[in-house]
Amino acid sequence: MVAAASERSEFRRIDDYDAVKELALRAGLDVADKPTDNIVAAFGYFLDSRLMGSAALEHEDGNLFLEWVAVDDSVRLQGIGGSLVDMVEGEARDRGMIELWAKARIPDFYKSIGYRILGKGERGPKTLDGCRGCPELNKTCHPAIIVKDLRARRRSVS
Ligand SMILES: CC(C)(COP(=O)(O)OP(=O)(O)OC[C@H]1O[C@@H](n2cnc3c(N)ncnc32)[C@H](O)[C@@H]1OP(=O)(O)O)[C@@H](O)C(=O)NCCC(=O)NCCS
Repeated sequence: MVAAASERSEFRRIDDYDAVKELALRAGLDVADKPTDNIVAAFGYFLDSRLMGSAALEHEDGNLFLEWVAVDDSVRLQGIGGSLVDMVEGEARDRGMIELWAKARIPDFYKSIGYRILGKGERGPKTLDGCRGCPELNKTCHPAIIVKDLRARRRSVS
């Protein structure tokens, strides 16, 4: 579905977290100072062995969150981001989690793949405190706390 006939593509688990960070930076995420030590599992989409998409489960404050969701802009809107998030959801289920939380930079993407955006009065396990002071906040970036019930039926990975 995604790669040209001559390109070899695959989704798989990845443990090269430096490559995950490099992709996230390339995709425009503000992660230059963010360590990768808290990643507990990550998944990648590869085109001819080059990492072009990633998503990870990250440990923070005693909870696990969806993080590091990034797709190279040359291959966006082809279902890759959604499929990678689906793989992280599978990992979360395997670890006994019944819901998955994240701080979303593009809430509409997550809405499309079954996440609920928390309303103003609602609080999740993670706050937006980390965003305070960021020059992009509410200008180019409109973050939201999102959650998905992992007991709901799975979407299919393409
Ligand atoms: C957000 C991102 C990961 C999406 O990856 P992608 O591979 O293009 O997403 P998909 O093709 O799997 O899209 C899944 C759904 O989300 C929608 N979607 C994707 N990007 C969107 C966007 N920027 N705004 C609104 N909806 C979006 C798609 O239209 C699709 O909806 P559909 O199933 O109803 O057609 C990618 O644009 C990206 O890396 N952006 C920069 C980094 C970033 O902001 N990451 C998110 C951090 S919270």
